[in-house]
Amino acid sequence: MPLVRLQKVIAEAGLASRRKAEELMVAGRVTVNGKIVRQLGSRVDPERDKVAVDGRVIGEEPKIVIMLNKPVGYVATASDDRGRPTVLDLVAGLGRRVYPVGRLDQDTEGLILITNDGPLAYALTHPSHEVPKTYVAMIHGHPGRTALKALGDGVTLEDGRTAPARVRLLGAHGGNALLELTIHEGRNRQVRRMCEAVGHEVLQLKRTRVGTLSLGPLRPGQSRRLTEAEVESLRRAAGLIVESADEPRPRPAREPRPRPAREPRPGPAQTPRPGGQARPGGQARSKGRPGDTRGRGPGRGRQEYGPPRRTK
Ligand code: URA
Repeated sequence: MPLVRLQKVIAEAGLASRRKAEELMVAGRVTVNGKIVRQLGSRVDPERDKVAVDGRVIGEEPKIVIMLNKPVGYVATASDDRGRPTVLDLVAGLGRRVYPVGRLDQDTEGLILITNDGPLAYALTHPSHEVPKTYVAMIHGHPGRTALKALGDGVTLEDGRTAPARVRLLGAHGGNALLELTIHEGRNRQVRRMCEAVGHEVLQLKRTRVGTLSLGPLRPGQSRRLTEAEVESLRRAAGLIVESADEPRPRPAREPRPRPAREPRPGPAQTPRPGGQARPGGQARSKGRPGDTRGRGPGRGRQEYGPPRRTK
């Protein structure tokens, strides 16, 4: 196969005009076999070389990224050997082989991504990429300064010490408190174990953010496809797009306001109950759900523990 100019390959794939393809190359958004190629005269063998723009390999199945508000009772795996309902049951009919990104345990509600984009899934979950994930936990009891500081500094679990986390006390209700924790590791039941390590059982847990994405108004069981701009900003947060220092950051295209794509379906088992899941040990039931922080807490001046906020 004769070698073909890289910008021609990109243009013929319908991704951009040749001129725009050159701009993408100069901006470092084009890779050949995983390496960024900025040189405008570069040629490739379209049959053998893997050309990608923003991580999307030309000629491969189009990538899709779905955000789902996982209800309690669903497992975050592609298939379950115990026959429990999985998150894929809630996004059936996409016509592509997709899988959930990372872990969210069966008792946890909230934001989970589902995709067929392997490199993105890997980058979002591997601790070395340090993509922050935010959880709102309703815990039993009222944590003091020492407990909050310990959570922020890192606590010792059976699989080692946790990395520093950002921790905010959002409010207190009856005998329970609402905590927001941002971590960038993905150990099994990490937030629950962290809270237990400082003496507070987690009664309800919800993931509200992953990288640059917030759950927004999706109700449990609802899902929607991410916009191009959202996927791009996730890629950036995961370190898959790196801007060179002298280059202005491209403004994300204006997207329509995302709307829920799908109504929740009744789950075959353990569908979420309005008041949340059962409380172990019969503790007092509190109002509200984790993540619903309206009208709660001291507002401005809330104490924050752990490392400073990051913008990524
Ligand atoms: N931490 C937990 O305890 N559970 C999850 O599902 C995710 C983080």
